[in-house]
Amino acid sequence: MPSDMTTKFADSNAIAEAAAHLREGALVAFATETVYGLGADATNSKAIAEIFATKGRPRFNPLIVHVPDLEMAKNYGVFNATAAKLAGRFWPGALTLVVPKRVGSGLADLVTAGLESVALRSPDHPHAQALLRAAKRPLAAPSANRSGAVSPTTAEHVARDLGDTIAMVLDSGPTPLGLESTVLGVDGEDAVLLRPGALAREEIERFLGTPLKTAPPNGKTNTPTAPGQLASHYAPRAAVRLNATDVQTGEALLAFGPHVPPCDGPHYNLSPTGDVTEAAVHLFAALRALDQNGVTTIAVMPIPETGLGEAINDRLARAAAPRS
Ligand code: TXA
Ligand code: MG
Repeated sequence: MPSDMTTKFADSNAIAEAAAHLREGALVAFATETVYGLGADATNSKAIAEIFATKGRPRFNPLIVHVPDLEMAKNYGVFNATAAKLAGRFWPGALTLVVPKRVGSGLADLVTAGLESVALRSPDHPHAQALLRAAKRPLAAPSANRSGAVSPTTAEHVARDLGDTIAMVLDSGPTPLGLESTVLGVDGEDAVLLRPGALAREEIERFLGTPLKTAPPNGKTNTPTAPGQLASHYAPRAAVRLNATDVQTGEALLAFGPHVPPCDGPHYNLSPTGDVTEAAVHLFAALRALDQNGVTTIAVMPIPETGLGEAINDRLARAAAPRS
């Protein structure tokens, strides 16, 4: 059931209504295959300012612009051969490409936080695609949570965080991948991994036939030397303890794999068979579910760094980082 008046099931009427809201400069949350996004018309400065205000997001952290396809993306960014090849292979999908911003793109300056580059993605979710085509606008959409908190994978998560502050939440059920897109910067011939995500590094490297560079400073700082690389992010209310092999009193357990230590408190196994792809789907929902009254700390079992494990461990490291 929708949890409040602003939530509507994403049928064609609701999508048409949401598109009208977006064209008028209002904010609409919608599902992509990764997480729910908080969408606004990327050409409308007032609407974009509203996204930053609603999320409590620092203005130096630029937004991803969502488009239906590569052809539309070329109106906003400059695609060299490498960028076009990557979009051709992985779009629509969980890959965001950071490319030089096109002169006269018409995008609000705030979308790119004044940078010369722009992050573009074509999402692979039928409702996101329908909304983009109905709105006939590029849609800036960060994850639809308060800045620094755990990303939403259901409409209920969005409604709980932002429900009464936005025009509408389009409910498409749980998002199929559960983790944000992989963000790649394309710099000449090279691709640089700016944020690990729902498209595994190995898959991109196999396609390109070369290893991806990794961007410094890789989340080791709370000073914004690189956008979106803040150390503390994706954080539940409770503390997070990594690489746990046992569970203390007052702790909840986020387990992984078949061999789980005893736990009297709340617990959830991300993948009893030890499958990192399955674990990624449930990660954020599990962090939210374990973040209950009386739980001081969420103890997290070790997760391998292979495949989507890289992105899972990135999010968990930020959830566990000291909070400012
Ligand atoms: O899966 C996703 O990517 C979701 C869905 C809604 O599409 N969106 C999302 O947006 O995760 P957000 O705003 O939570 O994360 C966007 C990331 C941030 O780390 C930001 O710093 C980075 O993309 N980014 C955006 N523009 C950039 C740019 N021009 N240069 C470098 N990084 C950029
Ligand atoms: Mg986010």
